[in-house]
Amino acid sequence: MSPTQKALYLNKKFGDFVFEDAPIYKPGPGEILIKIKATSLNPVDWKIQKYGVFVEEYPAILGTDVAGDVEELGEGVKEFKKGDRVFVHGQFVNDKASFQQYTLAVASATARIPPSVSYEEASTLPVVLTVSYVGFYNKNPHGFGLTAPASEETQGIYGGTPIVILGGASSVGQIVIQLARLSGFSPIITTASLKHTDNLKSLGATAVFDRDLSASHLKNEIKKLTNEPIKFVYDSISSKTTQETGVELLAPGGQLAVVVPVSAKAGEDKSVLGILGLPRAPHNVELLETLYHDKIAGFLEKGIIKPNKVEVLPNGLAGIPDGLARMEANQISGLKLVARPQETP
Ligand SMILES: NC(=O)c1ccc[n+]([C@@H]2O[C@H](COP(=O)([O-])OP(=O)(O)OC[C@H]3O[C@@H](n4cnc5c(N)ncnc54)[C@H](OP(=O)(O)O)[C@@H]3O)[C@@H](O)[C@H]2O)c1
Repeated sequence: MSPTQKALYLNKKFGDFVFEDAPIYKPGPGEILIKIKATSLNPVDWKIQKYGVFVEEYPAILGTDVAGDVEELGEGVKEFKKGDRVFVHGQFVNDKASFQQYTLAVASATARIPPSVSYEEASTLPVVLTVSYVGFYNKNPHGFGLTAPASEETQGIYGGTPIVILGGASSVGQIVIQLARLSGFSPIITTASLKHTDNLKSLGATAVFDRDLSASHLKNEIKKLTNEPIKFVYDSISSKTTQETGVELLAPGGQLAVVVPVSAKAGEDKSVLGILGLPRAPHNVELLETLYHDKIAGFLEKGIIKPNKVEVLPNGLAGIPDGLARMEANQISGLKLVARPQETP
């Protein structure tokens, strides 16, 4: 009999989460099999259940934040060995998703976890790192078209250019703030509940304003900080209200990045970019392989990128449905929920 593993399936479109055994997959050429030690939860996981988006085939295994150990190498994989600690952005196909105990990954898109970073911390990164990085560094209209900080020469090059990051305390926002710091933006202006101020300043924010300030009030506060035009706004929340605020803050010629479908109307002199952090979309592959395979371990080791805080859910994969319900109810503030699939009863 082929070996099996525990997996959490969404049984049908708009359906329920159920446990079923899944096969332990065989890595193909250029792939690795990962024994998943930690996976984090994302809003998209409850949105798929509620709205039926992104997933084509059911029953479906969800989850795309993978951290664990290399278990087996596919043909031609030379850069990893069994037991290496790695993390990767999974996909919404069953053999590459993360709400299970083993998954496959493309080796050239996989990152090492440095010794100073735990599996749980690493698992908080992929989904939010991808959408942040693509939003900044991919070409228009997939991103702002900025120069990626992949070498020391291209880091810090946007000095004197202001950026506004709406929702800095969200998991996306925390990474966006750190990328803005790495690229040299100044000032870095963000909105959040003010209890997050110290943390967000430690990540690179220059100024933190209350998340409930009106757009006009925020505009006045920003004028006190910089005379430069606001050409970049990254909306890490992208509610109707925050998208409208983003458009209002922009100077002519400016760009607003949003992370859910675009609802704001911008005039002809401003653009609104809908950012999709799909790891294997052809226009994202080269940018992301360089980031994951070659760069991110160094950024983590040097503390240039710090993972979000973690709350570990009880009972491995069985804790995930409750965690997703808490996310949907807006009960998660300034941290990431993480499950350890190997602890599933
Ligand atoms: N397009 C993509 O590829 C992609 C990828 C990842 C995420 N997303 C989307 O990005 C959004 C954020 O995801 P996430 O994982 O970062 O969520 P998250 O961390 O779970 O979001 C919760 C945080 O957002 C803050 N927040 C909520 N509404 C806010 C507002 N109006 N202003 C300022 N802060 C606000 C909350 O603040 P308090 O602490 O004050 O409660 C809380 O800290 C979601 O809609 C998600 O689906 C899209």
